[in-house]
Amino acid sequence: MTKDLIEIEARVQGSFSSDDPTKALEHDHNYVKKLMHAYLTTQNKEVKKNVGPKICEALETHTSLEESVFYPHVKELNSALIERCLEDHQQADDLIRQMKELLPGEAEYDELMQQLHDSVTEHMSVEEKQLFTEVRDSDINLYDLALQMQSYESNLVAAHARLSTTRPEQRL
Ligand SMILES: [Fe+2]
Repeated sequence: MTKDLIEIEARVQGSFSSDDPTKALEHDHNYVKKLMHAYLTTQNKEVKKNVGPKICEALETHTSLEESVFYPHVKELNSALIERCLEDHQQADDLIRQMKELLPGEAEYDELMQQLHDSVTEHMSVEEKQLFTEVRDSDINLYDLALQMQSYESNLVAAHARLSTTRPEQRL
C-alpha cells in the first residue's frame, strides 16, 4: 500500500497547460480518484489517517479554483450545467464538513467517504464528458483562462503557507 501511495502524485500547484487548463482539472480529478480508491480499499488505519485529510484538502482547493475562476469564466456556455455542478459541489462540501468532525478510519467516516466517492466520481464524469468538451470546443480564450487559474491558485497556495506559518495548530 505504501508503494501504491508513492505512485500517486498531485499536480504541482499553480501549474497549468497554457493551451488547455481543463487538463490540469482532469489531473486533479485523477489524483483525487486514486486517493479515494486507496482509502476505500485499505484496512490500514495509518493509511486512512494519512489519506483522508489529503482527499478533503485536494477537493477543497479544486472546488475553490473552479467556483472562483473556471465556472464564472465559462458559465455563458451552459448555465444550467454550471448550476448542476455547483449543486454537486455543495453536496461534497456538506460531506467533507461532516467528515472533519470525525476521525479517518471511524466507521461513520468510512461511510461518508464512500458517499463522497460516489458523488464526486459522478460529478467529475459530467464535467469531463460535457463541460470540458464544451469549453474546448468554444471560442473562449483558453490561454487567458489558464493564466487566471494559475494566478488564483498561486495566491491560494501562498495564503495557505502563510496560515501554516503563523498558526501551526491549523496544520494537518
Ligand atoms: Fe467540479
